[in-house]
Amino acid sequence: MTQKALHRPALTVLDTPEEVAETAARRILDQLRAAPRSVLGLATGRSPVAIYAHLAEAHRAGTSFAGVESFNLDEYIGLGPEDPGSFAHYMHRHVFDRLDMAPGQGHVPDGLGDPASVARAYETAIAAAGGIDLQLLGIGRNGHIGFNEPGSAFDSRTRVVTLDESTRRANAPDFAPGAEVPREALTMGIGTILEARRILLVATGAAKSAALHAALHMPPAPDCPASALQLHPRVEVLCDRAAAARLKDG
Ligand code: GLP
Repeated sequence: MTQKALHRPALTVLDTPEEVAETAARRILDQLRAAPRSVLGLATGRSPVAIYAHLAEAHRAGTSFAGVESFNLDEYIGLGPEDPGSFAHYMHRHVFDRLDMAPGQGHVPDGLGDPASVARAYETAIAAAGGIDLQLLGIGRNGHIGFNEPGSAFDSRTRVVTLDESTRRANAPDFAPGAEVPREALTMGIGTILEARRILLVATGAAKSAALHAALHMPPAPDCPASALQLHPRVEVLCDRAAAARLKDG
């Protein structure tokens, strides 16, 4: 077996979650200044909300996103854009309805379609767009990226996954009281994510410190999906002090 070269992601530790969001937004805006027709990989979760607010602010101040095409990492199976718990709903609320991206240029896997066909078509659409220039990532408390839970193969592609109970519990606050968090999702695979030309991972808060430590300092292994990022030559990690607490160089 050929040994893959390992890389050390560039690490920037900032004082507050707000500075992390501001810096991440600046990275995205710099990318768009250099290449206005960039293909972005976008994430959901609590961490990117403030980043998207900065992008919306930049748009109000005159930045155009009209040339941008984007692909989200994942979606719950069985939820469509009308469902407030869906990632499609989240993306409309925080991004698509607030920027001037051309209609149809913001892609989220269709949680209502036939999952296997949606997964195949999603990979084809990413390739047809020319691949992802900059992929934004959060990290789950168990080290997941997208919805690639521990045990996911590093060469996995967009597919149906079963969510860990811990992930369902962590995401329950995004759903109305009493609403079930879906048990399955569609996610870009780790192999899909690693094909992005550049990756920006954001992590804030003490609840992420163990996952971030495993991702950056442990040998890459499927028990921490984010550790696969060590196989990619152009990864930047932006985190706050709380998330960096267990890092040697944090
Ligand atoms: C979800 C998403 C991930 C995200 C993670 C962390 O499970 N599928 O892409 O990184 O949550 O989210 P948060 O930023 O809310 O902690």
